[in-house]
Amino acid sequence: MAADRTFSFPEGFLWGASTSAYQVEGAALEDGKKASQQDIINQDNYRTRGFATAEVTSDHYHHFREDVALMAEMGLKAYRFSMAWSRIIPNGTGEVNPKGLQFYHDLVDELLAHGIEPIVTLYHYDLPWALVERYGGWISRQVVDDFEAYARLVISEFKDQVKYWTTINEQSIIVQYWTQKCFIPEELRENNQLRYQINHHMNLAHAVACNLVHELVPGGMVGSVIGYSPIYPLTSRPEDVMAAQNAHDLRNGYYLDIYFKGAYTVSALSYLKRHGLAPVIEPGDMELIASGTSDFLGINYYASECAKACPDDGTREMRWNGVNLTGKKGDINGFETHPGFYEMCENPNVDTNDWDWAIDPTGLEYLLRDIYMRYGKPLMICENGLGAFDELTPDGHVHDPYRIDYLEKHIEAMGRAMDYGVPVIAYCPWSALDLLSTSNGVKKRYGFIYVDRTDDDPRECRRYRKDSFAWYKDLIARNGQL
Ligand code: BG6
Repeated sequence: MAADRTFSFPEGFLWGASTSAYQVEGAALEDGKKASQQDIINQDNYRTRGFATAEVTSDHYHHFREDVALMAEMGLKAYRFSMAWSRIIPNGTGEVNPKGLQFYHDLVDELLAHGIEPIVTLYHYDLPWALVERYGGWISRQVVDDFEAYARLVISEFKDQVKYWTTINEQSIIVQYWTQKCFIPEELRENNQLRYQINHHMNLAHAVACNLVHELVPGGMVGSVIGYSPIYPLTSRPEDVMAAQNAHDLRNGYYLDIYFKGAYTVSALSYLKRHGLAPVIEPGDMELIASGTSDFLGINYYASECAKACPDDGTREMRWNGVNLTGKKGDINGFETHPGFYEMCENPNVDTNDWDWAIDPTGLEYLLRDIYMRYGKPLMICENGLGAFDELTPDGHVHDPYRIDYLEKHIEAMGRAMDYGVPVIAYCPWSALDLLSTSNGVKKRYGFIYVDRTDDDPRECRRYRKDSFAWYKDLIARNGQL
C-alpha cells in the first residue's frame, strides 16, 4: 500500500481462494457420478491437444480433507468452490445420488470445522452430459426448469450452512468461448445466435437461483460471477474510444445490466439485432429476469483488454475470440473482431503472461470503482491469479515469486479501490490448489498448493506448498497489510 495511505482491510474481510468442481475433483465417474459436458470436452482436448482429461484432475475428491487442512494452515477465511450437478443428480433430472450429496456435506462440514466460510457456485461449466444428449443442454429452454430443480435441492440442503451463493460462472466468457465451456455439436458452431440464446437461458436460470436463495436461505446472499475485463481504447482517437465503449457494452454491460437493472444493454442488443444474433425472448422472460435481484457481484479478473475501431468496409469477417494454446508468448491466434463495432487488440502499455494475458493490477482498481459507481452493490473477487509454468525442485519446493508479485500488486489495487469507498467483501484468488485449466491443460498452474502431476500422468497428485503459500499465509495473518 502506498506510504501516504492509512487504509486497512476491515475486520472480517474474507481472504479466500477458489476452485471449481470439474477442475479439481476428479473422480469423474466414481460413486454414482455421471459425465458432465466437461468430461466429454476434455477427452477431446486430450486427444487433439494433449491436455489432461477431467478424469482425475487434482483428485480433490479423495484429498479434500488434506486440502482443507492446508487451506486452514494458510489461514483462509473463505473457500469458493462449485458443486457438480452431475455428481448430485447424475442424469441431470430425477434420482439424487446420495454419495454425491454426501461428498459436499463432508466438504462443507470440514470447511466449517476449520472456520472457513463456504462460498458456493451452483454452476461452473459442467452441465450433466445426459442433458446435452437429451435436448442439447443450454441451447434448450428446458434446461431452466431442470436447473431450478437442481438449485432448489442444493440450496435447501445447505441453507443452514452456506450463506454466500453464486449462480452461474462467467456467462460473458461462455458467450466468447462457447465451444470450450459448453458442448456445441460441429454442425451448430457457425450459428452464433445460439451463443446469445444460451446466455438468455442462463439469465433466466440466474434469476431463478437468486429467487431461490432469497426464499430458502435465512440471511442468504446471492450474486452472479462475471468474467470481467475493463476495455481500454488503443489510442485517444475518438473512433477508438467509441470502439472501447462498444466492446464494453457487448462484453461487460450486456451482463451487468441484466443482473442489476433486469434489462439488456440497449446498444449491445441493437447491434445483435442488426446482425441476427439477438436471443429470442418469450413473454414473461424479462419480468422473471427483473425479479431475480442480486445482493452482490462476484468478479473474476485476470487481465484488462484493449480495443480499436474496426470499419465495416466489407473486408473483415466477424471473429469471436483469440487464444494462445502453447504458452509461448505471442502465439495468440487472433483477436475478436466485430466490423463496424470494435476490434480487440494488444495493449502496448502492459506486460503479459506466457499465454498473452495482460498483467494489469490498475485494471482491478479501475473496474471495482467503475462497477460500484454504476451499480452500487458490494463486490466479491471470486477469481484473480497468474497462470504460469511452475517447477517443482528436487527438494520439493516451488519458487513462484512472479505469482507473489502479481497477487501483491492486485491486492494493493483492490485496497486502493476500497480506500476510495468501494465495498469489497472477499478476495478469493484462483486457485487454492493447482487444477485443470479450461484452456491449457494442467501445465498452466495457478495454485498456492502444487499438485504433482502432468497432463499425461496423474501420478499420485501429491501436494506441496509453494512459496506463494507462505506469502499468502503471512498476508492473511496481517489482515492484508502490505
Ligand atoms: C476463469 C474460469 O475464466 O478463468 C476458470 O472461471 C478458469 O474456470 C480461469 O480456470 C483461468 O482460465 P484458464 O483458461 O487459464 O484455466
